[in-house]
Amino acid sequence: MSTVTSNIESVLQEERHFPPPAEFAQRAHIKSMAELETLRAEAAADPESFWARMAEELHWFKRWDTVLKWDPPHAEWFGGGRINISYNCLDRHLATWRRNKAALIWEGEPGETRTFTYQQLHTEVCKFANVLKHANVKRGDRVALYMPLIPELAIAMLACARIGATHSVVFGGFSSSALVDRINDASCKLVVTADGGWRRGNEVKLKTAVDEALKECPSVNACIVVRRTGSPQHMQEGRDFWWHELMETVDANCPAEELDSEHPLYILYTSGTTGKPKGILHTTAGYLLQAHLTTKWVFDIKDEDLYWCTADIGWVTGHSYVVYGPLSNGASVLMYEGAPNFPEPDRFWTMIERHRVNIFYTAPTAIRAFIKWGDQWPSKHDLSSLRLLGTVGEPINPEAWMWYRKVIGKERCPIVDTWWQTETGAIAITPIPGATTTTPGSATLPFPGIDADVMTRDGKPVGANQGGYLVIKRPWPSMLRTIWGDDERYKQQYWSQIEGIYFAGDGARRDNDGYFWIMGRIDDVINVSGHRLGTAEIESALVSHGAVAEAAVVARPDDLKGSSIVAFVTLEGSHNPSDGLNQELRAHVVKEIGALARPDDIRFTDALPKTRSGKIMRRLLREIATSGTVAGDVTTLEDFSVLEKLRAEEE
Ligand code: WT7
Repeated sequence: MSTVTSNIESVLQEERHFPPPAEFAQRAHIKSMAELETLRAEAAADPESFWARMAEELHWFKRWDTVLKWDPPHAEWFGGGRINISYNCLDRHLATWRRNKAALIWEGEPGETRTFTYQQLHTEVCKFANVLKHANVKRGDRVALYMPLIPELAIAMLACARIGATHSVVFGGFSSSALVDRINDASCKLVVTADGGWRRGNEVKLKTAVDEALKECPSVNACIVVRRTGSPQHMQEGRDFWWHELMETVDANCPAEELDSEHPLYILYTSGTTGKPKGILHTTAGYLLQAHLTTKWVFDIKDEDLYWCTADIGWVTGHSYVVYGPLSNGASVLMYEGAPNFPEPDRFWTMIERHRVNIFYTAPTAIRAFIKWGDQWPSKHDLSSLRLLGTVGEPINPEAWMWYRKVIGKERCPIVDTWWQTETGAIAITPIPGATTTTPGSATLPFPGIDADVMTRDGKPVGANQGGYLVIKRPWPSMLRTIWGDDERYKQQYWSQIEGIYFAGDGARRDNDGYFWIMGRIDDVINVSGHRLGTAEIESALVSHGAVAEAAVVARPDDLKGSSIVAFVTLEGSHNPSDGLNQELRAHVVKEIGALARPDDIRFTDALPKTRSGKIMRRLLREIATSGTVAGDVTTLEDFSVLEKLRAEEE
């Protein structure tokens, strides 16, 4: 708790407050704080009736019998109900004027665009669902999707959901070995990929990585490849098939399966405190309900809006707020394949101007990069179509928030700072733009029906402005259901720190108005450019290199990325530190996990500071990495000379 407490002491009281602009509030789905408070009170008094009333907005093949069965820590939402998320995102719009509305407007990094109306998207999804059926994919089978940010990724997800296959999207930036672990953990039967994707003008060679991976994935019997870049590919006879060829062999008729509310929709891997990533399992009805409702209320989506969330679909943000939430609302979604600074640092602003984007949702790390690149880039463009801005992924520092408001939002657009996690499935703490008065750096208050709080380690509530652990005290519809294949870890990790209460892993405080201030992770999880990485994962990658005896990875605050990765490494006897080895170890981590985990700094040392029980004292390493010295308590340190040496190396 020491870091959390010291953070709090250094937090200045934020005095800037921004009520919703009157014109915005008038037209919003939720028009005032009074209206929002009524909803919160209704949800707090009787959460089940509240969620049931909201669930009327979805299409059900069969209505539920019970809203919630809570057998801690296992929840069953809308038991007895039958539903299909692909039906909710597509078919139900076809009976309305939205049939010919743009569902997806996609732009590739090289600049080409493709648009799919709801009708067209429906056709593609039905066809691909038939392709999956022909490939013998059955209800409950797992399908890995390792793809660039192209429409086919959304199509593949919706096709899986249509027939009840469970998708596992693996971010295209992960390496071939990271892909192997994820495919094997879920025993995926099929992989969908592309020849490659474009990123900053370079081809990301996805199929090559899949070829490498499939040597070690016995459960996979077929691979379907989208032709995206056109680069030459080796296609293994009997195993590899071109997407476009298979799509010609099927018809466009594929009714959506009537699935149980709790049918497994997807697995998405995220980092935890051990080396092994956790397969977070989400199911159908509750997930859809909360993704749907948060999209509607938090982004205030209207039929005439063009909405753009810049996240890659490989992360949960892309699942909930590029694909399922917006499409369920019948929105028009902009999708972009590539980097924000390609060909120039104004790529996003050219796109907002050209497509007349109304709602824009991005990450603090991107905002900090925009600030660094300079105001001249956004200033060159007409951003007047924007009416709402959002951020997610890490705490946003108040100065970045103010820049976003001024330079991008022209002091006109409300900002929604949305706190949530892969595990929560959907937004949990957030402003509602027509109702909430915002203040830079705070995610404000819980969404109606989310019983979030800040507590001490032993489950006592803390007072205003006191730091503690962020918790959720009651089950919510889009919560994770388990960790794939490891229910024990699910219980331990999330529900046992404080018995029966969900433990988010973040430190937080509430101010005098009850607003939440998220202070970041309090476990060994670090947030680099909005991506979650376990220090233990990077350590295992380092130790898997023959020269490394032991490794300890810590985060160092970084103006741009939030955190940068510093690795302290001790070597096996026969190896000596060198620049060459430094480079080799960095490359080794990229090979094991992906470029997102590449250490910024590797420090060779004779020994690591440990407690008498042998636990590495990361706190000391963090201090050394950050300030070069150690001010905190060192009484449990086993060997003081280690610290002296690390300090000396720093100087
Ligand atoms: C962790 C979850 C959920 C979308 C992307 C990240 C941090 C997320 C905020 C925010 C402060 C935030 C937390 C959380 N985080 N949003 N608005 N303010 N911190 O998903 O990879 O599962 O990471 O991101 O530390 O625990 P994720």
